[in-house]
Amino acid sequence: EDGADFIVVANRLPVDRDTSGETPSWRTSPGGLVTGVAPVMQTHKGAWIGWAGVADEEFDPFDIDGMHLVPVPLSSEEVRRYYEGFSNATLWPLYHDVIVPPEFHRTWWNSYRTVNRRFAEAVARTASEGATVWVHDYQLQLVPYLLRGMRPDVRIGFFNHIPFPPWEIFAQLPWRAQILRGLLGADLIGFQRPADAQNFRRAVRICLGLPSSGNLVKIPAAEDPASELGDTTTITRTAEASAFPISIDTEHLAQLARDPQICARAKEIRAELGNPETILLGVDRMDYTKGIRHRLKAYGELFNDGVLDPGTVTLVQIATPSRERIDQYQQIRTDVELAVGRINGEYSGMGHPVIHYFHHSYPRDEMTALYIAADVMLVTALRDGMNLVAKEYVACQTDDDGVLVLSEFAGAAEQLTQAVMVNPHDISGLKSRIAAAVTMDPGEKRARMRAMRESLAEEDVRAWSDAFLTRLQQTDRAGQAEAA
Ligand code: G6P
Repeated sequence: EDGADFIVVANRLPVDRDTSGETPSWRTSPGGLVTGVAPVMQTHKGAWIGWAGVADEEFDPFDIDGMHLVPVPLSSEEVRRYYEGFSNATLWPLYHDVIVPPEFHRTWWNSYRTVNRRFAEAVARTASEGATVWVHDYQLQLVPYLLRGMRPDVRIGFFNHIPFPPWEIFAQLPWRAQILRGLLGADLIGFQRPADAQNFRRAVRICLGLPSSGNLVKIPAAEDPASELGDTTTITRTAEASAFPISIDTEHLAQLARDPQICARAKEIRAELGNPETILLGVDRMDYTKGIRHRLKAYGELFNDGVLDPGTVTLVQIATPSRERIDQYQQIRTDVELAVGRINGEYSGMGHPVIHYFHHSYPRDEMTALYIAADVMLVTALRDGMNLVAKEYVACQTDDDGVLVLSEFAGAAEQLTQAVMVNPHDISGLKSRIAAAVTMDPGEKRARMRAMRESLAEEDVRAWSDAFLTRLQQTDRAGQAEAA
C-alpha cells in the first residue's frame, strides 16, 4: 500500500485559498492551530488533510512548502451549518465558558456528523497500514471514533487546541455522549491544561459511566467501533487523556527578532507612531473570547484618571478578521470599533491617536517587528486554550526589554508565570496592572522576561509534538490485539 505514514487532520489546511486578487493564490491560514502545527510537518514528513477555506470548490492534492496537502471540500450549506454553525456558534462558545450563549440546532449537528465522516473517509483513503494519524481540534471530534471503525490498524491521536469545559457547562450539549464517544476513539487525547483533561475524564465518567484510573480510560467492547463483541465487561483497549501545552518555534522567532532588517523595521514603526515613550500592543483574532473590550475600557479610564499621558503613550491594536458572517462576531467588531472611536475621540491629539486600530492581518516579518517595537503586550482573554501570541511576544524580546500583561484565563498563564497576571473582568485590577507594566523598573522587567524566555527555549513546539507523538506510540494497544 502506498499511503502516508503520518497524517495531520484539521478543519483548515495550513493555507487558505485567496480569491480576492485577480489570480487566486494560497495564503497562510489564521489562528493558533496552524502556527503550532505547521512546524511539526517540517520534521515529520506526511500529509495534511483539511479544508481550503472556500465553499463549493474542489482541489486536487498538492505540495507546498514541503508539505503534502489533501483538500476536503465543503458546500456552502456545510460552511453555514458545520463550520459557522455547530463548530463556531455551538461548540466554540460552549467550550469558552459560555461568554455568549451557544445555539443548539439539530440541522447543524447533522451537518457536523456528515462532514466529520467525510474527513474520516479522506484519512482512511490516505493512511498507510499502521499509520499514525493526528486529529486536531473541536471541529473534528467525531473523527477518531469514525476512523477507528474504518481503519482499526491506525494509531490515532487527538489534540484539542481550545479549552474543554467543566461538566456543568458541557452537559448542556444535546449530543454530549456522541462527542465523548467520538473523542474516545483516539488512543491519546491531548489537552492544553491538566484542568481540561480532568474536565474531559469527569465528563466521560458522569455521562458514559466509564471511570478512569489516573489519566487512563478503559474502553469496553460496547464502546469500541473496532470490536465485534458488544458487551460492557470485556475491555478492548485504553485511551489516555492528558495535558500537552502547545508552544511555538522559539528559536526561529528569536532568529527573526535578531534579523537586522526586521530590527530596522521595528525602529521605523516606532518613528511612524511618533516616537512615543510607550507602545502598548494587542494582537488578536476579532473574537469575543479575547477580552478586547475589557482591555480598551481599562486603557481609556487610565487617561481619564490622569494615570497615562495621551501625549506619550499609544496602543496598537491588531484585530484580524475572523468568522465574519456569524452574528456574535459582527457584534464584537461593532463594540470594539465603537470603543476605539470613542477613546480616540476623547483623548487623541492632532496626529497622535491613542489607539492605532487595524482590522487586517500582517505578514510574519511585520508582526515580529511590532513585537520588538512594543514595550507592553496586552493579552486579556476571557478564556483561551493557550494563546500563542503571548509566547511569540516573549520569544521576540531578545534584549529582555518588554512586559507581558497576561490573563490568568489563558492556558499560557501556566507556563509564563513571570508575566504580570490579570483578571480581565476586574477593570480596576487590570488598570493598576497595566499602569505597573508601563512604569516597571528595568531590572524587574529583565528578570521576568529572561525567566520566561528561558522556559520557552526548552518548552518549544518541537518539545510539544515530540512529547505527544512519543506518548502516542507508547499507548497500550495490546487489548485491541487480543479482541481481534
Ligand atoms: C483557533 C482554533 C483553530 C482555528 C483558528 C482560526 O486557533 O483553535 O481551530 O482554525 O482559531 O479560526 P477559523 O475559524 O478561521 O479556522
